[in-house]
Amino acid sequence: MSTRLCALAELRPAQPLRVELDELDVAVVLVDDEVFAIEDVCSHAEVPLSVGEVAGCTIECELHGSRFDLRSGKPTGPPATRPVRVFETSVINGEVFADLDSPLEESK
Ligand code: FES
Repeated sequence: MSTRLCALAELRPAQPLRVELDELDVAVVLVDDEVFAIEDVCSHAEVPLSVGEVAGCTIECELHGSRFDLRSGKPTGPPATRPVRVFETSVINGEVFADLDSPLEESK
């Protein structure tokens, strides 16, 4: 089931938007014309990724500098070794949705 995350107009390029939901928090990131949704918690410790910096398709945790690929959730820089869940997004009538019950396979 798709969950509404935000309006597309709320997003600024490379500036993560934290969306707090009942089941989890999500960082929504606009990169070029693509919208990414990544669980808003670093896999190294309980730190929100949405306060970190985005460079290209990578988000960096501000605490110890782990980097994660927004497309796969995989860590691309230490110290994190485990992926963070990412979700496929869709934009319908200017609203951003994601299926939070089905994280992309490689990010589980
Ligand atoms: S808490 Fe994110 S890298 Fe350590």
